[in-house]
Amino acid sequence: MKRRSFLTTGAAAVAALGSTGFVEAAAKSTTRDVEGKGLVFPQGFLWGSATASYQVEGAIHEEGRGPSIWDTFSHTPGKTHNGDTGDVADDSFHLYKKDIALMKDLGLTVVRFSIAWPRVFPNGTGTPNPQGLDFYNRILDELHANGIAPYCTLYHWDLPQVLEDKGGWQNHDITKWFADYCGYVAGKLSDRISHFMTMNEMRSFVEIGYGGGRHAPGLNVSRGKLAQVRHHAVLGHGMAVQAIRAAAKKGTKVGLAENCENAVPAIETPANVHAAEIAFREENAMYMTVIQEGRYTDHYLANLGADAPKFTPEELKIIASPLDFAGLNCYTATPVIADDTPLGYMHVKNPKSYPHMASPWLYIGPEALRWAPKFAAKLWGVKEIYITENGCSADDVVDSKGCVLDSDRVMFLRQYLTQLHRGITEGAPVKGYFLWSLLDNYEWADGYEKRFGITYVDFATQKRTPKLSSDFYKNIIAHNSLV
Ligand code: NOJ
Repeated sequence: MKRRSFLTTGAAAVAALGSTGFVEAAAKSTTRDVEGKGLVFPQGFLWGSATASYQVEGAIHEEGRGPSIWDTFSHTPGKTHNGDTGDVADDSFHLYKKDIALMKDLGLTVVRFSIAWPRVFPNGTGTPNPQGLDFYNRILDELHANGIAPYCTLYHWDLPQVLEDKGGWQNHDITKWFADYCGYVAGKLSDRISHFMTMNEMRSFVEIGYGGGRHAPGLNVSRGKLAQVRHHAVLGHGMAVQAIRAAAKKGTKVGLAENCENAVPAIETPANVHAAEIAFREENAMYMTVIQEGRYTDHYLANLGADAPKFTPEELKIIASPLDFAGLNCYTATPVIADDTPLGYMHVKNPKSYPHMASPWLYIGPEALRWAPKFAAKLWGVKEIYITENGCSADDVVDSKGCVLDSDRVMFLRQYLTQLHRGITEGAPVKGYFLWSLLDNYEWADGYEKRFGITYVDFATQKRTPKLSSDFYKNIIAHNSLV
């Protein structure tokens, strides 16, 4: 693929690219002629990108894939923006070599992708579809041939529809169905995958899928039922951890990718930092906290009262099965201040004028990347942390030269990476960063309207065009530094 570079040095190249300030500044920056050393990341820091099966693959009827809840949901009128579906998405099922070439060009050393459960088990359980793993084998071969290490998510929300028909995450049996699927995949692929994540963002698929109905399966169950769905999700995670360990090659690392509520001090006084740490533990009580501690917090259970989930002590032990790493998907931050409430903190609600990106929920909160890993390390002793997702939507425009000069995304990434660097300097054990996303893709209920990629995708032609942010990221990777 021919790629227009914003990093080329030389006046001719700059002139050829146009006369915008962005282009010239970026072109000069390759010489790393800035004063000082820049913000240098630890040696061996891993730079990656992330995608997910339903958001990029398309080919929903190919090679024996069964239907998922997202096929059903997106085909239900009125559920997604413009009625958009993931039927084709980025067509990465067929174009994966092009996508891997983009990764290689960026200089990525790792990549996070997900496996579609209904490709492997079209009926959810039982006999696997042999062609299901063939596709992922092709991807793994291509990644390894390009020197890129795959990190694999086993559940990024595309539940086989047949299992939803049996109650989905409301049915306690799903914990076993999920663990069996994960064990099967890990047994087959751990020869080429070193890091498995059981689930992506439990908070999202539970709270939005079963609690608000804006995501598949589109339900809005009662408070008590929702608490039980949460419990099934964390229990399914724990059972999957055990199944992966039992089936995978020795040394395979297991974790998860969760979007914690990222409490941060609104201003950095010692009292507010302490309050934010309490809030981080408490606000994640039903997901990361119970997974790390093996107990629900007293406040969480008391607050639910009669709606508290039903569980056994044995289940709590399974939920807290030891992990090798924690993945944090970080987009927004929740500012808190110390307060004399029983828990000792209070949320600072963002005022109306608080800046956000193209998605209205995406309030800019770079400090999340400083504090979330620090709190996870301090509260739970987590020693290996990855930022498994970070990035933003932007209202990208293709200009008359065919370029997408997404300076807003560059601004966003620069702010977040600066805070990440700060957190690492202060001791947070973050080993790698996965930018969401390599490509514009299917943004769930927002369809194709919200673009999160550093590569622009023309969904009519499937043409991929790296944006300015792609070169921004490439430059960081090349120098292992925010230059
Ligand atoms: C988190 C989810 O994991 C991903 O699927 C989604 O596209 C991004 N957030 C952006 O909303």
